[in-house]
Amino acid sequence: MSDKATLTYGGKSYDFPVVVGTEHERAVDISKLRAESGLITLDDGYANTGSCASSITFIDGEQGILRYRGYPIEELAQHSTFPETAYLLMFGELPNATQLMEFRGLLTEHQFIHENMRHHFEGFPSDAPPMAILSAMINAAGCFEPALVELERSDHFMQSAARLLSKVRTIAAASYRKSMGLPINYPRYDLSYTANFLYLMFCMPNMPCEPEPELVRALDVVFILHADHEQNCSTSTVRMVASSQAGMFASAAAGVCALWGPLHGGANMAVVEMLEQIHQSGESVESFVSRVKSAHAKLMGFGHRVYKNFDPRAKIIKRACDQVLAKLGVRDPLLELALRLEEVALRDEYFIERKLYPNVDFYSGIIMRAAKIPLGMFPVLFAIGRMPGWIANWREVRSNAKARIYRPRQVYTGPTQRTYVPLAERK
Ligand code: SDX
Repeated sequence: MSDKATLTYGGKSYDFPVVVGTEHERAVDISKLRAESGLITLDDGYANTGSCASSITFIDGEQGILRYRGYPIEELAQHSTFPETAYLLMFGELPNATQLMEFRGLLTEHQFIHENMRHHFEGFPSDAPPMAILSAMINAAGCFEPALVELERSDHFMQSAARLLSKVRTIAAASYRKSMGLPINYPRYDLSYTANFLYLMFCMPNMPCEPEPELVRALDVVFILHADHEQNCSTSTVRMVASSQAGMFASAAAGVCALWGPLHGGANMAVVEMLEQIHQSGESVESFVSRVKSAHAKLMGFGHRVYKNFDPRAKIIKRACDQVLAKLGVRDPLLELALRLEEVALRDEYFIERKLYPNVDFYSGIIMRAAKIPLGMFPVLFAIGRMPGWIANWREVRSNAKARIYRPRQVYTGPTQRTYVPLAERK
């Protein structure tokens, strides 16, 4: 296959090199397009545009493949833990026993937030959106770590990454406790990352309390499944901010804001709201699906820019839902409704022709409900899970000596030149 692509325009031909990735994806390198032809490209939503070369995560949307640093998501979900997967994404290799112990030690060492930060929570209204608090408090946490956002020494990166990853969990739980008027818990040194999260969220400091092992494992898998996903909206945002040489905490705070939208990380919350609405109304699934189609609306938790087949994460989470609910002896009518909705949609021509399948958000909310996570915090758990991916992408931008600031072009469609009209002369 040719190693170049030729564009003909205005009677001239222009050759551009074709770049081939390690999984044989091909891209036309148009970095000289404007200089040679005067043309730029236009690509709504960047659906056909690669923003970077990256070695972190690989997705094959047609085959439904997802790999972190070459490891299939199915194997990581079965055998790994969230801290180990986080290490893999951020450092590129699975840690050996010593490296994992050291990393876990750093997560434990940095699991507290600065005591002065506790007062910040009082400044938010009790009904403030948890994603707004999370973004603000990540930036606040960065104010207490000013020396650690530079990359002069590699251990600065590990220190900073461990601090951000550990504190994002503590911040999320503290914001929930504050919103409920409950005492903010202190993390425990003897609990794992995810067990500590559930402890911080739901335990009372004046009585013994051990998080349910089944729920800990199920949430750990949810975090693993959310840990990275190549150039999605929020990760691209983190890279955009990192490209201006902004710090790790600032870039992550920006990622939280991008993730918040219902078309992205807010979808897990929108799915449960949709399922609750169907359940409470008693409307049949068939009738609901028919209304979605006729309104040309979105079935939340369905569809994906890249997956035109099953999202592999949805399959894993769907199995985990069954397992954790069975182990806890919980029957969630919304799970049965979700299964029915999936069954009806997957045999409907409207969804088939548009290649719409359940994505990671379709079932994740069911597990979060089983863990008694409040609905408003579902996107926050997505952000906690995605933090290693954001950090890994931040590092990939910042450690590239040739990295340029991200600054896309545009096609201008506004008014052509006109003369200023004094106020007295305007109609
Ligand atoms: C995440 O990018 C990532 O990797 C994201 C993510 C990650 O891990 O970071 O995987 C996480 O964000 C998953 C997606 C969560 N969002 C939702 O579940 C919201 C519902 N889904 C849609 O909004 C939509 O599918 C997107 C946003 C996910 C993808 O949007 P695209 O690629 O821009 O697709 P599109 O809007 O161009 O849709 C193509 C067609 C359209 O129909 P036509 O105009 O051609 O007739 O499919 C239709 C759309 O109307 N369509 C849907 C639909 N999604 C697309 N119709 C009904 N229900 C849906 N969910």
